[in-house]
Amino acid sequence: MPIGRVEGCGDHGRAAGDRAGTPGRHAAELRADSGFTDLRAVRFREDRHYGTDRPVGPYGRHLRYGTPCRSPAARPRWADSGAVNERSRKRGRTGGTGDPAWSGRAGAEAFAAVEAATDWLLGYPFVFRALARRIRGGDVLVDYGCGPGAVADRAARILGARVVGVDTSPEMLALARAQESAVAEFHLVENGRATGLADGCADAVMCNHVIASLPDEQAVLGVFTEIRRLLRPGAPCVLLATDPACTGREYASLRIGEPGEVYGPGDELTVRLRRTDGTWQEVRNHAWPPGIYPELLEGAGFREVVQQHPTVEEAQSLADPELLRGRDWTAERERPPLVVTTALAV
Ligand SMILES: C[S@@+](CC[C@H](N)C(=O)[O-])C[C@H]1O[C@@H](n2cnc3c(N)ncnc32)[C@H](O)[C@@H]1O
Repeated sequence: MPIGRVEGCGDHGRAAGDRAGTPGRHAAELRADSGFTDLRAVRFREDRHYGTDRPVGPYGRHLRYGTPCRSPAARPRWADSGAVNERSRKRGRTGGTGDPAWSGRAGAEAFAAVEAATDWLLGYPFVFRALARRIRGGDVLVDYGCGPGAVADRAARILGARVVGVDTSPEMLALARAQESAVAEFHLVENGRATGLADGCADAVMCNHVIASLPDEQAVLGVFTEIRRLLRPGAPCVLLATDPACTGREYASLRIGEPGEVYGPGDELTVRLRRTDGTWQEVRNHAWPPGIYPELLEGAGFREVVQQHPTVEEAQSLADPELLRGRDWTAERERPPLVVTTALAV
């Protein structure tokens, strides 16, 4: 049943069998084909694997890699967005076409050609593990900013969830729909709202590499607020983002900003991403230090924000073994560039 047509589909609109929590045979077979550790087994090894997780206070004070150049404010950070914008304008942040990253057909096709090896090592498997701890087969998982749908497809196969992809880009959704995919539905985000999806319809949301394309704190807060609308109370939101403090290092598939440069919240920076053909793609992004997420998430109606910089060591038991063996991951070992943030809807 398409969840887009179900009112209040979170706890109430699902078929009774779905709540039993047993992924169907099809989903189990797909997971077996996935090449990853069965993430359901990982639930029972939480303590060992969550060694680097750390709960953060309202201003992210306890982060190992917190915001590098702004001390925690005593009032909501989004109240500062005008100042941030002005400061950022001085740094030339509006220098491009003004179009959002990856917009239009060319943008969608460019993103679809990106390799994302570092993300498949230190990012997506950790997002899936965080979700596997909280959801069961048949639960509704929204991929917020799903792009061409490859990650949503993998999540559906590994987690056995009913995955719904949403995105602001019709071109991205067209690419996603054209794939043979395990994703159940795709919806357009218009005026900040995922069309056709009822309040509380989702048992979980993942949002991977979306925040970096948002120009100011109001926009970040807007996305968190819409994600909160989609979630039923108590359900998890898992965010994946690059850490703008990891500037200039040559990671396997990305480089964030310029060597030695320090970026404040909202500053524009160039991210270079390796394509599958070995060439590199540049995109203008915005620096959102992970230390600002907790307060914004709490402002949007989340609690229990936990952040983690996944390491290569931790990836040994989660990532595709062939991917692990394929490179030495020197930069990733020295300073892991990705941050996974988990929060629960109030
Ligand atoms: C870098 S791509 C990431 C795609 C996918 N999540 C992944 O990890 O492969 C960012 C995506 O977020 C979408 N996006 C940007 N702003 C958005 C917003 N406010 N709401 C929903 N999607 C958004 C873009 O259209 C794009 O498809």
